[in-house]
Amino acid sequence: MYTFFTVVAGLALLPLFLYIRFPYLIHDLKYSMKTFAIGARMSKHKKTKPCYTVLECFLDKVKKHPDKPFIVFENRTYSYLDADKRSNKIARSLLEFANLKEGDTVALFLGNEPCYVWIWLGLAKIGCTAALLNHGIRSRSLLHCFSCCGATVLIASTELKGAVEEVLPTLREQNVSVFILGAECDTAGIETLGDKIERVSDEPLSPDLRSNVTIKSPAVYIYTSGTTGLPKAAVINHERMWFASFLQMIAGVKSDDVIYVCLPMYHSSAFLMGLTGGIESGATIVLKRKFSASQFWEDCRKYNVTVIQYIGEIMRYLCNTPKKDNDRDHKVRLALGNGIRADTWSEFLHRFGDIKICECYGATEGNVGFVNYVGKLGAIGRDHFLYKRFVHYALLKYDTEREEPVRDSRGFCIEVPRGETGLLVAKITNLSPFSGYAKNSQQTEKKKLRDVFVKGDLYFNSGDLLKIDQEGFIYFQDRIGDTFRWKGENVATTEVSDVLMKVDCIEEANVYGVMVPGNEGRIGMAALKLKEGHDFDASETCKHVKAGLPTYARPRFVRIQNSLAVTGTFKQLKKSWLGLEMRLIGPQMSSISFLSE
Ligand SMILES: *[C@@H]1O[C@H](CO)[C@@H](O)[C@H](O)[C@H]1NC(C)=O
Ligand SMILES: *[C@@H]1O[C@H](CO)[C@@H](O)[C@H](O)[C@H]1NC(C)=O
Ligand SMILES: *[C@@H]1O[C@H](CO)[C@@H](O)[C@H](O)[C@H]1NC(C)=O
Repeated sequence: MYTFFTVVAGLALLPLFLYIRFPYLIHDLKYSMKTFAIGARMSKHKKTKPCYTVLECFLDKVKKHPDKPFIVFENRTYSYLDADKRSNKIARSLLEFANLKEGDTVALFLGNEPCYVWIWLGLAKIGCTAALLNHGIRSRSLLHCFSCCGATVLIASTELKGAVEEVLPTLREQNVSVFILGAECDTAGIETLGDKIERVSDEPLSPDLRSNVTIKSPAVYIYTSGTTGLPKAAVINHERMWFASFLQMIAGVKSDDVIYVCLPMYHSSAFLMGLTGGIESGATIVLKRKFSASQFWEDCRKYNVTVIQYIGEIMRYLCNTPKKDNDRDHKVRLALGNGIRADTWSEFLHRFGDIKICECYGATEGNVGFVNYVGKLGAIGRDHFLYKRFVHYALLKYDTEREEPVRDSRGFCIEVPRGETGLLVAKITNLSPFSGYAKNSQQTEKKKLRDVFVKGDLYFNSGDLLKIDQEGFIYFQDRIGDTFRWKGENVATTEVSDVLMKVDCIEEANVYGVMVPGNEGRIGMAALKLKEGHDFDASETCKHVKAGLPTYARPRFVRIQNSLAVTGTFKQLKKSWLGLEMRLIGPQMSSISFLSE
């Protein structure tokens, strides 16, 4: 009898025991199941002939719920069927007037608007790849981004006509077809698309037009900042697009959700996690021209938004708005994104109510990603045995002075123990491929790390320093190399230096990011050495900076130095004063100018 009661009591206490011993067991199991489901679906998608892409998934949703709202934009609602028809028209006009064929690349140069989605869908229907240009770039950068992915057609919005005209002579030399979305344009060499769209039918297109597309064909190009100089076009093939799109499923987004997308569409967050993820979920997307802290919650109430997408800056801006009585009056239940800091995270929950925050980690071009599916404050993900079986990642001991992983006597890298910071690398395999950058084998090669644990092995170098704690939660620590993040954009320090070096008075420029209290990321600081006998010419510098760089990349602080610090290997020293920097500004004001926007 006694033993019987012990057993019953023991069984009753088992869940409690399990919970104390493995507090995240349920979450881990759910995640395991989702990982299996994704693996199974991916292998099915690959085997389907022709391969099953996000476009085919969209077409299935059109059949399933044609009248369901797909995109909501400024008081207009477009159903799945509307989107299908509109993209048919775009595809037909491009076939007819731009002579596009399967495999061609078309660059998109426009802000967030429904047409962005129609053009991409239209291009996918005729087997073409869309290059998603950052609409903030100009002149040299614009030309570089356009041509580095092999694009032959440029489609721009009417508002960006001026920026297109600046580079038009070069584009015309290269026989590029240039279209703007309006119906009228009197600039020679720019064609209009608006009127042509009206002229063609909205009938479905034959799948034969895209019959050669495979899971490895590029679906879109998304630009990431280069470690040396200009941006690189990361190849997002259909497989990669699928993996990113499954993130919504992992986070728990359902088809009756309404997703608020206010990040720029040319980024992977909005395009892959928001748009194509939304198609996979079969949800409704509320598209916003751009983020506005004052309209954010009003929009969420107006459109019954249930899922929001963020980057760290957005969450901080929202927390910085004046408190209101109706702060908790909304239906948002889930926030999906990356880069939220622990302090902002708790403040956000405290102020806006019980919203599950699903923080993710992953580079646009990377072959490894994490999801904090537990909602553990401050973590970017969780070490999961099952995921680790598919993606072999490791944190390597890193030498910040020499800017390379530490190697042992045999020349191999050393994995850091739990609790210590290390460089994230992930083995390049069939299950975790690295597609690299379009037409840039040199930059692609630079992201690879060889002979990591055994002779001849090959890893993707994320450039990020992470830490995994005893419980298995992963934390972001720092980013190495020649980029920093400001306003959610990566800035390549060399691209900024290159522009500064064109200024007459500047001999050398060393650009790096500095932290400013109360802000996410790092703002640009330029340490300059002037030419012998020259004074600093602020207006000339400002002119060059404004002409050559998008707003977020422009350095806001300048310090004039007699010589620039270099490391033992003559690399410019970028990190040594970090932290000290902002305190230096006060007393040294005379040598620091502020470049206004
Ligand atoms: C552009 O087209 C012209 C005429 O068809 C041709 O002669 C020229 O070589 C082309 N230029 C380039 C860069 O393809
Ligand atoms: C598909 O590839 C085949 C063989 O390379 C080629 O003959 C055919 O024209 C391609 N189809 C399209 C639509 O480009
Ligand atoms: C939002 O939900 C409310 C109540 O469920 C409903 O009355 C309203 O029509 C919805 N608004 C939109 C834009 O769907």
